[in-house]
Amino acid sequence: MATDPVADLVVAVHQLEHPAAQALAGPVWDYVSGGAADETTLHDNVAAWSRVQLAPRTLVDVSHIDTRTEWLGLPRQHPIVIAPTARHTSYCGDGEAATLAGARASGALYVQSSLGGTPLADVGRIAASLDQPWWFQLYIQRDRSFTADLVHRAVAAGAQALVLTVDTPTLGARDRDKRSNLGSPDGVPYPILADAPLSTATDVPAHRRIYNPLLAPDITWADLEWLIAESPVPVLVKGVLRADDADRYVRTGVAGILVSNHGARNLDTVPATVAALPGVCAAVAGRVPVLVDGGIRRGTDIAKAICLGAAGVLVGRPVIWGLATYGAAGVSHVLDILRTELEMAMALLGAPTLADLTPDLLWDTPRP
Ligand SMILES: Cc1cc2nc3c(=O)[nH]c(=O)nc-3n(C[C@H](O)[C@H](O)[C@H](O)COP(=O)(O)O)c2cc1C
Repeated sequence: MATDPVADLVVAVHQLEHPAAQALAGPVWDYVSGGAADETTLHDNVAAWSRVQLAPRTLVDVSHIDTRTEWLGLPRQHPIVIAPTARHTSYCGDGEAATLAGARASGALYVQSSLGGTPLADVGRIAASLDQPWWFQLYIQRDRSFTADLVHRAVAAGAQALVLTVDTPTLGARDRDKRSNLGSPDGVPYPILADAPLSTATDVPAHRRIYNPLLAPDITWADLEWLIAESPVPVLVKGVLRADDADRYVRTGVAGILVSNHGARNLDTVPATVAALPGVCAAVAGRVPVLVDGGIRRGTDIAKAICLGAAGVLVGRPVIWGLATYGAAGVSHVLDILRTELEMAMALLGAPTLADLTPDLLWDTPRP
């Protein structure tokens, strides 16, 4: 029987981190792996999932495990999504094309970053050839007419939803990038935003600047209302931690909420996303799907997220580790490992379907 060379070597997602560090090295690895400031939240994002303890049910027939789900009318084989991350061409020669192929092979939904390394029309063409659904992550630009054009280009290319990132009016204290001089987008190609009119020159010296030319610092609720009216496809928001914000997002008309702290890359010392998830789910109360990302490294993390009310999870860095080491095969292998671990966890928890992943399966939930 043929064996899969990647599967023979890699049995857990974290095994790819070190090889990816070696493959990327230097400033690009700093950019991928780094978090904001002291990286307190970066460490906590992963650690907090592992601190949640499970309370398995026994004597349940788990001879068939079903991970299927559906969001915004889009049926999925499993609840794992590829998070939007910038410039895949820096991690693998084939860039986003390889990620899309990996997504297709593993049945994962793909979210294309505004800062991708491949033009939108090419992303759309490759996705269509693979019959791979995708959403487009939007950074509203300072020039709103450029932003409107970008939205329509993404939808024309085939994006089935927009994911507006709301936690990034500017970047956080990316100390690693500052040290390696990768913090500025100057000179780095971002083909999707290539024609974005940038802000006018500033006389603030580089070490005193807090704003980024490709991020609009003046986005408000009015912009969200405008975007929802402008967009031909549903709009989700990414980067929500507060329950009061979540409720207002739903009342404003978003189609879904992504609980995220941007992989701990923006504001250090915000809570791990697992800590924010229950409050957001309670406020949303099932009106729209809630997804979560940040520190998902095991299938048990995914099971816990769903027990806490999430409809799905997004995975950022591990997908890049797979891409940097084994290209498309690495991406699909990372997702296959997570999906298989999720299925194992569901079997061992006595939860044959995602609907059976309920809060009582968490040890700290009061039970009779
Ligand atoms: C290298 C890198 C680039 C990212 N680029 C973007 C981006 O362009 N837009 C965005 O909304 N989030 C971006 N993110 C955040 C991810 O979408 C996601 O929230 C985060 O990576 C999840 O945490 P994890 O890496 O621990 O899985 C980026 C994250 C990383 C690691």
